[in-house]
Amino acid sequence: MEILKVENLRKEYGEGNNKVIALNSIDLEVERGEFVAVVGPSGSGKSTLLHIIGGVDSPDFGKVYIDGNDISKYSSKELAYFRRRKVGLIYQFYNLISNLTVRHNIELPLKLDKRKINEIEFLDIIKKLGIENKLDSFPSELSGGQQQRVAIARSLIYRPSIILADEPTGNLDRKKSKEIIEILKYFNKTLKQTIILITHDEEIALQAGRIVTIVDGKIVGDEKNE
Ligand SMILES: Nc1ncnc2c1ncn2[C@@H]1O[C@H](COP(=O)(O)OP(=O)(O)OP(=O)(O)O)[C@@H](O)[C@H]1O
Ligand SMILES: [Mg+2]
Repeated sequence: MEILKVENLRKEYGEGNNKVIALNSIDLEVERGEFVAVVGPSGSGKSTLLHIIGGVDSPDFGKVYIDGNDISKYSSKELAYFRRRKVGLIYQFYNLISNLTVRHNIELPLKLDKRKINEIEFLDIIKKLGIENKLDSFPSELSGGQQQRVAIARSLIYRPSIILADEPTGNLDRKKSKEIIEILKYFNKTLKQTIILITHDEEIALQAGRIVTIVDGKIVGDEKNE
């Protein structure tokens, strides 16, 4: 069964003359282990789609199934659990908590659920990300690339069904961007981690196995990229 199924999704913002149709009858299916790049012009609805899939925003119409579960049926409490456990969100501006150390930032999703840290898995992830000697540092003491690695570690700690990344390299130079994409590809390959990644960068989109193009809230292209 597909890990993600989006059916006839619609989202509008504003009213009257200010009305914007951000998403217009979006249908999308993603299989476990796929690495999908989402591209399209600014304002085309990419982030809106990711936010709805991640349970951060809700659609006006349509359905989102993750692992076969209809997330629109979730109560607000169930949705909070879902966001922590089932999806890993990575943003352009890292969204780390500035007064927590790197270790505590990464462990936060588990701590919020009073769950034990699996130290072996934890070490596995941070070693691959090359941040094992930064665990006691605070986010402000790290470079942009290092902060993004911490955000990726935090998103992986629950082994989510899907990683949702909104321009994760938008704030990084070319070399650091490449490193971040290589890391995401590694977790995609080794953990069969499903990834949906928004990017404006064609070179990055070409690293994905599939490229979905959105224009004016509609999917206008969906191509395999073997
Ligand atoms: N909270 C909001 N209130 C009103 N309009 C919004 C809101 N969020 C998004 N929009 C509008 O919805 C449309 C889609 O926005 P969205 O952020 O999804 O675009 P995007 O493809 O991610 O663009 P970008 O590449 O610039 O990040 C835009 O016209 C935007 O102005
Ligand atoms: Mg966006």
